[in-house]
Amino acid sequence: MTVLSLTGGLAMDLGTANTLIYRRGSGIVLNEPSLVALETETRRVLAVGREAKSYLGRTPRGLDVIRPLRCGVISDFAVAQEMIRYFLAQAGASRRLFRPKIVVGVPIGVTQLEKRAIIEAAEQAGGKDIRLVDEPMAAAIGLGLDIAAPVARLVLDVGGGTSEGVILSLGATAFSESRRLAGDQATEAIVQHLKQKFSLAVGDNMAEYLKMTIGSAKPLSEEQAVQCRGKEVATGIPKALKLTRGDLSGALDEISLAFVELVRLLISQAPPEFAADLNRDGLHLTGGGSLMAGLDQLLTLETGLKVHVPDDPLLSVVLGLGEVLENMQKYKSVFSN
Ligand SMILES: Nc1ncnc2c1ncn2[C@@H]1O[C@H](COP(=O)(O)OP(=O)(O)OP(=O)(O)O)[C@@H](O)[C@H]1O
Ligand SMILES: [Mg+2]
Repeated sequence: MTVLSLTGGLAMDLGTANTLIYRRGSGIVLNEPSLVALETETRRVLAVGREAKSYLGRTPRGLDVIRPLRCGVISDFAVAQEMIRYFLAQAGASRRLFRPKIVVGVPIGVTQLEKRAIIEAAEQAGGKDIRLVDEPMAAAIGLGLDIAAPVARLVLDVGGGTSEGVILSLGATAFSESRRLAGDQATEAIVQHLKQKFSLAVGDNMAEYLKMTIGSAKPLSEEQAVQCRGKEVATGIPKALKLTRGDLSGALDEISLAFVELVRLLISQAPPEFAADLNRDGLHLTGGGSLMAGLDQLLTLETGLKVHVPDDPLLSVVLGLGEVLENMQKYKSVFSN
């Protein structure tokens, strides 16, 4: 690690579910869950990131695993700050050595107060000159879209805690809609579905695994069975079931339709010139939640738009922030602070 790379700056996608950090000149250097394990009473932090995730659902009394961010904004300031400090240190920042410039992604529609909280947390964790970029804008840049062109682009970022849809044109956001409804709520919908349909209680990690393997936004023909472990609601006795896509049928309908409605509402606000561009260019889907099987097909079916999903939608935002960091002059108009 050279002095140059340390002083060169960092870009951070501080997500509800995952935090990713890009280091100038090096690329992505950190990708961990935004989780912290702490002692309930003293709030002393015991583990952060991947290690904290392995504690999930297995914590003894007196120990909690929490997400210091809710829907992309800081909900627990002190703990968020410790998490950010830990991640930045992992990525090579340090309070005593060099204070890196940091570009941070923020959800659209965050308040000034929430922006201030993010800036303060990043400063206290060792950064200086903190610059904020709207996440969907960063995602568009990360997807390689020419955002400065006089062409309307439609981007939908389905993350862990928020879904953000934007129409971009000439380097700025023309229209936007966001919902506090995304991948985490899809996981929760599966927990509820299993409780109601199979009287089975499962933890979040199991529900997320089921979502990723057999969950879908619409009925799909392929049949794959996976093992689901939980416990019987009535008796508390451990129980294992083999489940297929059909067994989760309907569980993700409500949430998928909310994504369709968000896109419809966004398109309905756009003037005719934009509509023509969108018809040609389609919808750029990104964020981890966009990996929900069948979501792209459902969106095409319901909106008539072509839907593009990148190879790794979990990386779009951090790659875009990295691109901004590498070319600060070129992208100076995208900063939201
Ligand atoms: N293969 C998959 N299928 C379905 N969902 C997935 C898959 N992989 C990841 N996810 C979901 O993606 C979500 C995390 O996505 P992402 O990392 O983009 O969110 P985030 O940026 O942390 O959150 P936010 O942007 O809302 O703050 C989680 O809810 C996770 O369960
Ligand atoms: Mg995100």
